[in-house]
Amino acid sequence: MRASSNSKTAHSTRMPTLSQVRLASCQHVSDKRPNRNGQSAAVLGFSKKLKGLFNKRMPHIALIGYGVVGRALGDVLAARVRGAKVVANDPKLRPGRAGKVRIEKNLPKAVAGADWIFLCVPSHLQGQGVAGPGWRKLAAQLRLHAKAEAILVIKSTLVPGDVAELEKLTRRRVVVCPEFMSEGTAERDILHPHRVLVGGSDPAAVESVIRLYRQWVPARKIIRMDAWSAQLAKLLANAMLAQRVSSINSMTALCERAGGDVRSVARAVGLDPRIGPHFLNASPGFGGSCLEKDIRLLCSLARSLGHPEVARYWQAIIDMNDAHVGRCIRKIVKLTGPKGRIAVFGLSFKAGVNDSRNSMPLRIAQALKAKGHRVIGHDPMMKRAPGLKVVDSIYEAASGARCIVLMSDAKEYRNIDWTRLRRLAPLAKIVEAAGGKVPSVFGRGTVHRLGGLS
Ligand SMILES: NC(=O)c1ccc[n+]([C@@H]2O[C@H](COP(=O)([O-])OP(=O)(O)OC[C@H]3O[C@@H](n4cnc5c(N)ncnc54)[C@H](O)[C@@H]3O)[C@@H](O)[C@H]2O)c1
Repeated sequence: MRASSNSKTAHSTRMPTLSQVRLASCQHVSDKRPNRNGQSAAVLGFSKKLKGLFNKRMPHIALIGYGVVGRALGDVLAARVRGAKVVANDPKLRPGRAGKVRIEKNLPKAVAGADWIFLCVPSHLQGQGVAGPGWRKLAAQLRLHAKAEAILVIKSTLVPGDVAELEKLTRRRVVVCPEFMSEGTAERDILHPHRVLVGGSDPAAVESVIRLYRQWVPARKIIRMDAWSAQLAKLLANAMLAQRVSSINSMTALCERAGGDVRSVARAVGLDPRIGPHFLNASPGFGGSCLEKDIRLLCSLARSLGHPEVARYWQAIIDMNDAHVGRCIRKIVKLTGPKGRIAVFGLSFKAGVNDSRNSMPLRIAQALKAKGHRVIGHDPMMKRAPGLKVVDSIYEAASGARCIVLMSDAKEYRNIDWTRLRRLAPLAKIVEAAGGKVPSVFGRGTVHRLGGLS
């Protein structure tokens, strides 16, 4: 799913000026162990009311939005926050129970009595971030039905500055706690985060969220900061991940033209500890519901703060991704010949997930089909894909193909019987676009690696 074009303009009128931005210094939470009452020194300044939430009755947590983030977070909160009552609201779901989480279709009922309300809804509800009708409607409901002392915890990735707007619309305290999990490893990432950022201007609200996280996250991993910085850190983290993907993919073009091997280049570069090896595999490009959207949010923020050069810098990461996809398509078309059958292995935006939102493999497969090729898809996690024939068997997909494109490094593609595949598709060229290995059964000049020596 491409980010809404509205995202470019949505926030421009509501950005804080730089003078409004409070760049409060970040502070790690004290690492002192909780005392006998379960209170760490970092939170002993708590109001009695907040202490009471933990000591006298069940903490009551509501989640609004029960998708990828909401589900994983709900499971962890229900499992790790002692005695917690966790209720999730999502219009897509039927009421009932999902493990320890109660699903409540009715928002007023879901938030009634909640001490913390985690917002895990898409960044753009009906297209325009917090300025749009979706967020405004949600904010109006929260203002009406959440209890006055409830703390809204923002997990959705929003543009810095939206917090002030939400506080105004909901008349509730808002704390930003950006989510850094990855799809496919969501629960593990939430259980063992690299860091937890807790940003806000109300010290008691910030402390209460820290206290929730302290039920399973060590204090040294929790960083208290202002909301604006926490939100910016989230956007920058995703933008930098995407930047690495575009950086290495940009080298595939040069390697293919000049005769280098992008895997050697990536290995050599990644051995530098200042750079590191992660996100340096040549691939069909970055995708999913977050990376491109978050870069667009960052660009819109930069423009609204009067820095078009910053927006242009980050936009180039997306432009490189698009150019790379275009180059992959041209390469596959050239190898296949006119209107040949193409088998595409891997359709989701990355291995191990069944999410095809803004998936580059799917975009490539659809473009090949649009050019008149007969495209058959296979994915270990996806049984169907929009506008594409998807089959269950790798061998069925490959049968009679003129080109077989490997777009995923899923483990299922590591054990392919290549001899059988060659019998089924003797004329096929192989395009290896995901950093895996193709044995030599296909003979010289048949296997073409993205950014590699053919
Ligand atoms: N997916 C990730 O890996 C990831 C990681 C970090 C942050 N985020 C951010 O978290 C947010 C949610 O992402 P996601 O991947 O979970 O999205 P998702 O699309 O999987 O889930 C969002 C859920 O919110 C529900 N929803 C929409 N409007 C609602 C409303 N008004 N009230 C209640 N529920 C509503 C939808 O039905 C959907 O189930 C986004 O801002 C995203 O950028 C996502």
